[in-house]
Amino acid sequence: MAKPSYSVEDFGVTKYGEKAKKFTLNGAGGVVMEVSDYGGKIVKLFTPDRDGAMKDVVVGFDDPSGWDDGDPYWGSIIGRYGNRIAAGRFTLNGVEYRLPALNNAPGGVGCNLHGGARGWDAYVWCAEPFVSGDDVGVTFTHVSPDGDEGFPGRVEVKVTYTLTAANVWRVEYEAVPDRDTPINMTQHVYFNFKGESGGTIEDHVMTIDADCVTPTDKGQIPTGEIRPVDGTPFDFRRGMRIGERINEPDEQLEFGKGYDHNWVLNKKEGFGRAAALYCPLNGRTLEVWTTEPCIQVYTANWASYDQKAKGGEHLSFRCGVALETQHAPDSPNRPEWPTTFVKAGETYRSTTEFRFGAK
Ligand code: BGC
Repeated sequence: MAKPSYSVEDFGVTKYGEKAKKFTLNGAGGVVMEVSDYGGKIVKLFTPDRDGAMKDVVVGFDDPSGWDDGDPYWGSIIGRYGNRIAAGRFTLNGVEYRLPALNNAPGGVGCNLHGGARGWDAYVWCAEPFVSGDDVGVTFTHVSPDGDEGFPGRVEVKVTYTLTAANVWRVEYEAVPDRDTPINMTQHVYFNFKGESGGTIEDHVMTIDADCVTPTDKGQIPTGEIRPVDGTPFDFRRGMRIGERINEPDEQLEFGKGYDHNWVLNKKEGFGRAAALYCPLNGRTLEVWTTEPCIQVYTANWASYDQKAKGGEHLSFRCGVALETQHAPDSPNRPEWPTTFVKAGETYRSTTEFRFGAK
């Protein structure tokens, strides 16, 4: 086993006057990650295939300017509130808060998405790389002021990426607000196990450990229903090629232009498996484990396909899949669902592991 190590270089991006850095993390198990302090973006992630050949398996750009802030949030940390809040409004402690409602699916009325106009993905965070035993990682910290993007409360937030000798990438989130506020953090990396210019992920076999999804209206806001996946294109419980049913005539698939939905995980409280991904072509595997109750699976249906990705080719439709562990979208307006409100002085905590392998 190799010794874990890291190196630091300039990322070549200056955002809002701040120069971003890039950290290369060499894991003891062989996985190598390049991550930036600009939104904690995963720039490259090399994992072995079944013959041990390494390939970068995350969608992204050679030109640093490709990693721009905002949609579609390539590789980023997402906060303060990942996913959608209907009409950008919620009420907390009797006060109605109004947030930017800039995201607009065709037929929708606008909603708050991934923290607003400038979410936590679009900041250069403080970053401390570390080696600890067989682990290597980076700790990112950021302070979001009271009123940031319309949300109440100043939040001190810390996200730790750890790469272990077992080729696990662990993401630990911690955030402490000084007023009650909603917090729902996630990671928005898009995987494609065929690597750059790999085309679509429709041939990847995905498993989602969930009996139910939360269907949405045409603005992609949950209707409140918790719908069994049984007999629908959303049934990934036994593993299915992503492309197997993605083009079936189905109202939900039309609203999302494919999969862009929240599954309610079967696991009970605590840490458990959420999903798995497998590329039959090269054997690469991934398991996603989390403390979160739900997962948004998004098959890059809305990306801008004229953008040039790694290798100089244009991004292709459905070029990646994001497996975003989270609380359900619009939870601030769904008191009957597990709450995303964090009380002043309390610590929000969430952990997700991406476990890489090959078979
Ligand atoms: C959302 C998509 C959105 C994408 C990029 C996903 O989490 O569910 O609807 O297009 O992020 O912004």
